Amino acid sequence: MFPDVRLRRLRRGKIRNLVRETTLSVDDLVQPIFVNENLDSAVEIPSMPGIYNLPLSEVAKEAREIADLGIPAVIVFGVPVFKDAEGSSSYGEKDIVQEAVRRIKAEVGDELVVITDVCMCEYTSHGHCGIVNFETKEILNDPTLEVLGKIVVSHAKAGADIVAPSCMMDGMVEAIRQALDQNGFENIPIMSYAAKFHSCFYGPFRDAAESGYSFGDRSTYQMDPANSNEAIREVDLDVAEGADIIIVKPALPYLDIIYRVKMEFEMPTAAYNVSGEYSIIKAAAANGWLDEKKAIYESLISIKRAGADIIITYFAKDVARMLK
Ligand code: PBG
Repeated sequence: MFPDVRLRRLRRGKIRNLVRETTLSVDDLVQPIFVNENLDSAVEIPSMPGIYNLPLSEVAKEAREIADLGIPAVIVFGVPVFKDAEGSSSYGEKDIVQEAVRRIKAEVGDELVVITDVCMCEYTSHGHCGIVNFETKEILNDPTLEVLGKIVVSHAKAGADIVAPSCMMDGMVEAIRQALDQNGFENIPIMSYAAKFHSCFYGPFRDAAESGYSFGDRSTYQMDPANSNEAIREVDLDVAEGADIIIVKPALPYLDIIYRVKMEFEMPTAAYNVSGEYSIIKAAAANGWLDEKKAIYESLISIKRAGADIIITYFAKDVARMLK
């Protein structure tokens, strides 16, 4: 008790460093990359200053820069020229993500882990993450699983190291595991967006990935932000279906979910620090309202402290430079 105990003794000078409980390392980070088949040159995303939609021709250069910064992984999102109701430009051998993965791998080989986002929303004309019944306006679960199988196999053939299904269909991990295994890819891990909430913080991403939807919203498949026990059920099922890494998304408004998931499952756990979380800090910093570097550090260290091992973040390159 006071005055014998004074917690302030350990807060001074380098002693503070010695007793620090959580650290942020470049090894924790995954940088998202947007590749857009419609472009000839890079275009900055208006709502995400510093983040670019890239043409295929610039993907290798970007991967080289990321690898040289010591970041271990990228997650690739594609925007195709052609969209239809079935998302059929998502699984062709020569489609945008498949081409991008081949170019990245040709440039950096094993220097970067290439993760692919597996979803249909960027490839469907209606913008939903699955096959749609237009009469009932329903997003159909089981027919979507078949398409996911085709997507992951095409990504794996192109050289993806990890696949990350993000559409929140029931049974997606099992379907993907089966498709991979049947095609000889039993060593490709699945990083599942297990607890993905129906969040307004994806807004800027939808500008970037042109994945806004033509009717309804994603609340029939993405989770209610009010639910925590349900997140545990989601993760439990994905682990049972063979997920190797669990993603909680978004990150900052859901630190309690990250904490619970890490505590209950002790799985490799990733948090997705999403586009809106990025834009908030960039906008405030641009106005001089926040110290950008400190806001980034404090956000990411909080995500680590909550229990995340991996952080998918648009700040990855900034942080790698800060930590150098
Ligand atoms: C869906 C997908 C989304 C994000 C990643 N994958 C958007 C959504 O579900 O609406 C969001 C990423 C971000 O906001 O940074 N394919």
